[in-house]
This record gives sequence, C-alpha cells and structure tokens, in this order.
Amino acid sequence: MNGSPPAIVKIYIIVTVTSAIVLLFLLIPSFQINSEMIKEFLFFSVLAIFADSMPVSLPRGGRVTVTEAVAFASIVLFGPTISAFVMLAANIASEIISKSKIHRLAFNCAQFVLATGTAGLVYQYLGGSRYNISLENVLPYIGATFAYLAVNGTAFSLIMSLEFNISLYGIWLTNMRWAIPNLIMLAPLGLLMAKTYTYTGPMGVILFFAPLLLARYIFKSYMDTREVYINTLEALAGALDAKDRYTRGHSDRVANYAVELARQLRLREDQVEAIQHMAFLHDIGKIGISDELLTRVGRLADNEFDKIKLHPVIGEHILKDLNYLGSFTHFVRNHHEKYDGSGYPDGLKGKVIPLGARIITLADSFDAMTSDRSYRSKMTPEEALEEVRNCSGTHFDPELVEAFVLLRSGKPTEEYRAFLEAASVAEK
Ligand SMILES: [Fe+2]
Repeated sequence: MNGSPPAIVKIYIIVTVTSAIVLLFLLIPSFQINSEMIKEFLFFSVLAIFADSMPVSLPRGGRVTVTEAVAFASIVLFGPTISAFVMLAANIASEIISKSKIHRLAFNCAQFVLATGTAGLVYQYLGGSRYNISLENVLPYIGATFAYLAVNGTAFSLIMSLEFNISLYGIWLTNMRWAIPNLIMLAPLGLLMAKTYTYTGPMGVILFFAPLLLARYIFKSYMDTREVYINTLEALAGALDAKDRYTRGHSDRVANYAVELARQLRLREDQVEAIQHMAFLHDIGKIGISDELLTRVGRLADNEFDKIKLHPVIGEHILKDLNYLGSFTHFVRNHHEKYDGSGYPDGLKGKVIPLGARIITLADSFDAMTSDRSYRSKMTPEEALEEVRNCSGTHFDPELVEAFVLLRSGKPTEEYRAFLEAASVAEK
C-alpha cells in the first residue's frame, strides 16, 4: 500500500480501524489492571516488536513474521485485552520503523488488533483458561489460532483485492497457502512459549526465542532459494531474447499480456502467478537450438524448422524439476498448439489444450504481431487484434479471443467491431 489508496480502499480502512477501536473499548471495561500486568505487557510488547522487525515477504504481497507466536502466548497468558494491546504496540513500532504511510499504519494496527482480540475472545469463549495450560486448553487454543488466521487472512486479502482489483478468492487462497504452514509451525511454539513463561518467567522466554529465530531463518531461506531459482531462469529467458534485436523484451511482454488476460478471466491469483512465470519462460527451450537457426533471416528448410519445433519439449525438460512450478510445465510444452489441432508438439485440440498454454499462445502471438521481425514490419495493435479475431477458433480459443479483444480495446467486442468499421470508413 504505497501512495494514496483508491476511495474504496479508504472506506475499507476506515471500517477496519473503527471496528478495531470498538473492539478495544468493549474489551477494556472487563479488564482489571495492576502493576504486574503492566510489566508483562511491556515485556511481551518488546518481544513482539523484536519479532515483527524481521518479516519474510510473501510472493504476492503480504508478509509473515514470528510475531504470531508471541501473540498466541500472550492470548493464553493474559487474555484478549493485553494481547490486543501487545499487537497494537508491536505494529505501531514496526510501521514507524519502516516509515509507513499513515493509512498503512492505521490499517495494519487495526487488523492485528482485530485478529488478536477476536482470537483471545474465541479462546475464552471455548473455555480456555489463563496461565493454567493443560490438555483441556488445546481445543480452545486451536479455535483461537483459526480465528486469528480467518480474520488476519481475510482482512489482508480483501485490501489487496480492492487495491489491485484482483479476485478476492484467488488472493485469499494464495495467501493461505503460505500463511497456514507458517501458522501450523508458530501456533505450537506460542503455546510452548506460554508454558515456559509460567515456569521460568521472562528469562526462559528470551532463551526460547533462539529456536523461533531458527524457524524463521529456515522459512526465509526456502523463500529466498525459490525466488533466486525462478529469477535465474527468468534472467536466462531475458538473455535469450536480448541476443536477437527483434525479440528483445519479448518474454517480459508476453508475461504481461498473459497476466492481464488471466486476470480478465478472473483466474485465481495462484494460477495467474503460475501463468506469469510460464509465460516468461515459454521459449526457454530455445537455449537448446542453435543461434544460427534462430536468427536466420531467410526461409528455413523443413528439417530445420522441425528442429525449432523441438523448443517447447526442451523447455518442459528444463523446467520439470522446478519444485514449485514443476506441475505447470505443460503450459510451456503446449504453447504452440492450435485450437483446431494443427499445432505442435502434441497436436492437441480445443479445450484439451491446457488453459495456461492457450493464454500464453495468444499473448505470444499478439506480441509477435505487434513487434518488428526481420521478414516484416510490425502491425498496429488494432490490426493485430483484428488478426487475432480472424484466427478465433482456428489458432486461438474463441472465448479467450473475446476476453482479449475486450481487454485490449476496452470495449465489448461488438462495439469494438463497429469501431473498427467506422475507423476504416473514416480513413476512406
Ligand atoms: Fe515458442
């Protein structure tokens, strides 16, 4: 959330902040304060601030920290009021340190207060008792962690969906895929931290932070390794494009067109992400084809063209060991299939061609049409869109063509056709 947010986002932030203030006012009257509690609050707030200052970024925005373990421990030890204030203090400090804008500070603090306060209330409601940590408290504790996950995950997903105009369900699913394993790891640690605190006091909890930091380090290393691997392959794809002045920036543009089309089709955000990576890497198999063949200006002999036609299969082989994206490599294999079955390498037809591959085919072709080649000049976007429509049902999936034309022209397809006709009359 950088810059000034759209009106709908501002309204949502105001609603979230108001809800958090109301929750705090509801919690305070039931709360008996004493000097011991102030010490505990200060100690856990410092712990939470320390934990929150070391976040791990998620692939599509958002972040995870080990702060949740501190929040869960404070829920069990002190109930919803102190834990909500602990998270409020931690987030105010963390947002001030990272020099966040005021709307971001307000939203993050409010949603963590809501998530922690709600989780604390659920813990109480399900019969969880404070300080006395026994087996009977496990069920209320699980309920509290799920309440935290539901409020936190939904609040973050909703603001990302509103801000970037993307599917709420898609972004929620993407965030949950990372947040759930993180929570499964941190929830038991929170419980153990609370137990340690009851036996040993602050010193035991400070020692407890060592394995927490180790867990964070492992998670961050995994995220970094995954990113470095994908970045390396994408740099390779970019380098391949750059070898030929006619294809410079091609993979990047294809990925952008493919993402726009996937979002226009309201695909889930994790599917959009897979399509984006595969679109960027769609021609990576050309690394196995000689430069002389790839850059030759004249016509290719049939056996030479057969060699070039191997690149989708080579690309699939290169990518199939990619842990995270390995199950989407058929998008690369099938990006030269045609809707009427006349494509390669498998001659797949219609909807049998994976949706991701059909999207990449269209994005790839549109970019090829609107870029100069050694053998022809580029088309205008309007000419290329008309060509895309002409190939609807033969080269391209008709449904994708409709969505793509609507997306690129900004008008419904019938109106777009009328616009083109009117434009050609005006030219005459
Ligand atoms: Fe290709």
